[in-house]
Amino acid sequence: MNTTTDTWTTDPADLSRSTVVVIGGSGGVGEGVVRAALAAGATVVATGRDERRLGELAERLGALGLAGTLHTRVLDAMAATLDADVTAMADEFGAFDGVVVSVASWGEQGRKPALALDDDEWQQLLDGNLTSVFRLFRAFLPVTARTGVLVQLNGMSADIPFPGSAAVALSAAATKSLTVTLAAELGGRGPRVVQLVLGVVRTRARQLAGIDDARWIDATQIGDHVVGLVAGTSPLSTEPLQYFTDRAEGPRPGPSMR
Ligand SMILES: NC(=O)c1ccc[n+]([C@@H]2O[C@H](COP(=O)([O-])OP(=O)(O)OC[C@H]3O[C@@H](n4cnc5c(N)ncnc54)[C@H](OP(=O)(O)O)[C@@H]3O)[C@@H](O)[C@H]2O)c1
Repeated sequence: MNTTTDTWTTDPADLSRSTVVVIGGSGGVGEGVVRAALAAGATVVATGRDERRLGELAERLGALGLAGTLHTRVLDAMAATLDADVTAMADEFGAFDGVVVSVASWGEQGRKPALALDDDEWQQLLDGNLTSVFRLFRAFLPVTARTGVLVQLNGMSADIPFPGSAAVALSAAATKSLTVTLAAELGGRGPRVVQLVLGVVRTRARQLAGIDDARWIDATQIGDHVVGLVAGTSPLSTEPLQYFTDRAEGPRPGPSMR
């Protein structure tokens, strides 16, 4: 049996006056963020492309009786209507205090050596993992509160080789670059922008598939950290690059980029 001792904790934060959108909220990591934000009392808008998956999320979380209010919306980052869809969401909910980008796509090609990808597979992976993030940032930044935060959740493939999944990894590296560049461009003259690089996460989908390890980070622990970023109570609230790769150690700042 694997055991772990977490050496970090987060102070409970109050998001009862905050609105948080979790893009990819129906996904494994996104669900943990949605759950933590609801537990902190937030109004949460969880998005995904699949209405059924969103409905199942609402049913599961509704049964927990958490303090906040959950709304679900279908949103496709690659849709021609994205900007109008996001404007309509902002008209409905007001400016967002937290915008969490938790999208990913493994594509349908399976694991393949980098140079075995054909043009369509390459394009599909870049659309799903890189262009989607760029389009989401562009659409959501104008509707993020000046005091708010935009967080992109990313994986360690942003920094290390990832044989068999080259286009996923190079997209991760590119979105990491995009996020920290956006943070530097804004330079404190807009919402905070945070790149959060994660280690392996214990998600519901993995557990259902019988794939689990107690040393992995719980999706809700990531959510608790994101809640602290939105509330501004986390010691890392103003760090544009941060890592949560070791469950026991907790979140830590990345190397300085100055
Ligand atoms: N799972 C891990 O162990 C792990 C580890 C490190 C980092 N991460 C990072 O965490 C993030 C989320 O990963 P995950 O494991 O939660 O993935 P996931 O379970 O596949 O969830 C992905 C979410 O993104 C949505 N999505 C995908 N493409 C989209 C698009 N074009 N437009 C709008 N929504 C889209 C999906 O909704 P539909 O499919 O319903 O449309 C789903 O809600 C990724 O950035 C990943 O790099 C995950």
